Amino acid sequence: MKTKAAVLMQQPGEWEVVETDLDGPRDSEVLVRMVAAGLCHSDDHVAKADGKIQHFPYCGGHEGAGVVEDVGPGVRSLKPGDHIVTSFIPGCGRCAFCASGHQNLCQYGALIMHGSQLDGTYRMRYQGQDVARSSLIGAFAEYSVMSEWSAVRIPDHVPLRSAAMLGCGVPTGWGSAVNAAQVTPGQVVIVMGVGGIGINAVQGAAHAGAGHVIAVDPVPLKRETALKLGATGAFSSIEEAAEFARSITNGQGADSTVVTVGVLNGEHLGQAFDSVRKGGVVVVTAVAPMTVGSIPVSPFMLAMFEKRLQGCLYGSMSPSGDIPRLLAMYENGQLKLDELVTTTYSLDEINVGYRDMHAGRNIRGLIEFPVLPR
Ligand SMILES: NC(=O)c1ccc[n+]([C@@H]2O[C@H](COP(=O)([O-])OP(=O)(O)OC[C@H]3O[C@@H](n4cnc5c(N)ncnc54)[C@H](O)[C@@H]3O)[C@@H](O)[C@H]2O)c1
Ligand SMILES: [Zn+2]
Ligand SMILES: [Zn+2]
Repeated sequence: MKTKAAVLMQQPGEWEVVETDLDGPRDSEVLVRMVAAGLCHSDDHVAKADGKIQHFPYCGGHEGAGVVEDVGPGVRSLKPGDHIVTSFIPGCGRCAFCASGHQNLCQYGALIMHGSQLDGTYRMRYQGQDVARSSLIGAFAEYSVMSEWSAVRIPDHVPLRSAAMLGCGVPTGWGSAVNAAQVTPGQVVIVMGVGGIGINAVQGAAHAGAGHVIAVDPVPLKRETALKLGATGAFSSIEEAAEFARSITNGQGADSTVVTVGVLNGEHLGQAFDSVRKGGVVVVTAVAPMTVGSIPVSPFMLAMFEKRLQGCLYGSMSPSGDIPRLLAMYENGQLKLDELVTTTYSLDEINVGYRDMHAGRNIRGLIEFPVLPR
């Protein structure tokens, strides 16, 4: 079948919306009609060449929601008509990581930059050439063929537009605070960078009972939104936030700082490291360009102050269990989703959406797809 898709032809590059050919689903794969896809900064890292990929054209998009239209042989967990949210790591359920409750570290996650399907072959073509797709998904397309491991079923009555951010931003941010920082009641938490990921770290920290959730972002809209969604204070720089944290902790500093800036560099990590107390934890969720080779953290202080640096992928979540759990919290009114989407775009407007992200005009921009006859 034919499908419109936003692809990169080179790095760095802009998204080009082109008509592609899409094969039907093979073993254990499903065809999904995308309804909405979030403009996560991680896809922009690819466009800006922060992370090098090997294969072009490359269709972006890893955070989305849609409807299963067809299933390939052997699919057991989904049927046509099911509503799904994408999982940007394909949780197999059987590898040592999945089996021990760390589906975010599934061994098949190694393929997310490669762009093929699990069997190493491609399902999309442009002018006869195989198209690599982000995270085995390629949500920046009207239709996608993906492994059933990349699709998490959700109840039919939940609006797919609301659910789309559960593909990445919500679990990644929420889990960065709840799972990786392990925020407990009364703690002082700094969230550095309030985009689609950071706003959910704010929600997670508040939900875990933090006494102070201190949001940091140079953009006023981000600070205002953070204050509406659980932050108790907001500053335009980490230095001011750290100073405030020390002022309320007898000079000690924050219990944890979650780093969710758009493009991570060593300086951010040094600042975050200085902002936490002895025994405090710095959660590193933001992604640095692959060329950033080291971080300016004092090894002496690391040991003597027993500080911890904790990396965090996909909120340390197991998407097939945690996405439905977060959705239930949304339905109970405990987690905000609709307030996170500031502007919606058509697929053709994708570059406008990313420009808006860089200009600080959005918490999360969302592509909405029209319903097309097949
Ligand atoms: N680890 C993971 O599993 C994972 C998953 C998804 C995204 N990410 C990464 O998380 C990061 C955030 O993604 P996003 O989609 O929310 O990006 P975004 O661009 O929407 O938000 C980043 C925010 O950081 C703010 N910011 C920039 N510099 C800052 C600074 N020095 N101090 C405070 N705030 C600052 C920006 O104003 C912006 O509001 C990206 O690096 C992305 O690649 C990681
Ligand atoms: Zn993402
Ligand atoms: Zn696995």
